[in-house]
This record gives sequence, structure tokens and C-alpha cells, in this order.
Amino acid sequence: MPLPVIFISTIGADGIRNIAPYSCIMPVLRPLDLICLASAIKRDTLKNIRDTGEFVVNLATADFIDEVMLTAQHTSPEVDEFELAGLEEKPSETIRAPGIAGCYGWMECALNKEYEEPNYVLLMGKVLRLEIADDALNPDGTLDVTKAKPLMATGGKKGLRYGTIMDLGRKDSYGAMFSDGKDPLAGLYEQD
Ligand SMILES: Cc1cc2nc3c(=O)[nH]c(=O)nc-3n(C[C@H](O)[C@H](O)[C@H](O)COP(=O)(O)O)c2cc1C
Repeated sequence: MPLPVIFISTIGADGIRNIAPYSCIMPVLRPLDLICLASAIKRDTLKNIRDTGEFVVNLATADFIDEVMLTAQHTSPEVDEFELAGLEEKPSETIRAPGIAGCYGWMECALNKEYEEPNYVLLMGKVLRLEIADDALNPDGTLDVTKAKPLMATGGKKGLRYGTIMDLGRKDSYGAMFSDGKDPLAGLYEQD
């Protein structure tokens, strides 16, 4: 199944900046301010999130395809992966961990809860702040996928294949799921 390729940026307790691509990530129901990601145990990303309680989910455009494998390498935790991949910082507003400049969106997250198994951990992150680049939005506030060009991948037995998504030009309201046409969760959202 196609999954997004996002970059998680963190800083270690020692202040060293880390970046890793993650695809096993999903929101947990509306209002979509809680996200769940699956991490293998042997990840500097996991250690940094546990040590500092925070991380940035950087929504990558297809232009970041070359940085995927650069940041997926198993590098020593002493290596600054912004420098390694030649990526620039986008300072965060609510947490210390910086985002990555040039992405189309940034979720500044705080670690909320963990579910641990011997080989992996499911991490819940509370999205403290979401920012989408102005030029990646349609006038109605939805994502313009032709501009954002979200980086996606499918995984097969032999490896990964990259792509992006296509707008089908069709919209539905949440209320369309209900017989009275009203979205029972409308109160969760700020009104325009
Ligand atoms: C496209 C892609 C998606 C990945 N998704 C995940 C993921 O969801 N969870 C995970 O634990 N590792 C994932 N990885 C592997 C990590 O990115 C890789 O092991 C990286 O070196 C971890 O870096 P770190 O040790 O600095 O955290 C993915 C790798 C690629 C290339």
C-alpha cells in the first residue's frame, strides 16, 4: 500500500541533530492531532524522542527523493544529519527540535504514549503545531497536491518504489457520511 515518506527530525540529549525517513505513520481519528508511528528499537530517532520527548514530522515533497537514502543510512549518533544530507533547519515554534526547510508541512510533536514490543515501538505523538507552506494550499485551505507533490512509496519484496499523489478533482464534506448531512464532529474544528 502506498505510504507517505516523511522525515522525522530530532535532537539528542547532547544537542546533535538527527533526521530519518519514516513511512509507518498514521493519524489517529479526527481531529487528526494525534499521530502514531512505528519505530524499530534500534533507531537514534527513538532514543532522541525518548530522551527529549519531542520530534518534528516533516512532510516531504518529491524533490527530497535524494535525501531519503542519505538519511536512512545507519550513521553514528555523533553525526549531524542535517549536515550529512545538506539540509537546512526550519526553526520550530513550540519545541527545540528543528524542522527541515523546503518541506511542504511540519508537525511539531510531543511524545504522548508508547506501546512496546520486543522489536518495535508504537509511539503516539500529540501534534502541538501544524504548519503547511502557504504555496502548497488551495484558496479553500485544502492541500494542493500538484504543488505539494507529497513523496510516497510502496514497499515490495525487493525494495521501494517512489511516487506522488494525483488529485481526482472531487471533494466530499464529512457530513456526507451522515443521513442528516451534518458532521457530528464539526465542533472539534475552528470555524472559518
Ligand atoms: C522510505 C523509508 C521509510 C522508512 N520507514 C521507517 C519506519 O516507519 N520505521 C522505522 O523504524 N524505520 C523506517 N525506516 C528506516 C530508517 O529510516 C533507518 O533505519 C534510519 O537509519 C534510522 O535512522 P536513525 O537511527 O537516525 O533514527 C525507513 C527507511 C526508508 C528508506
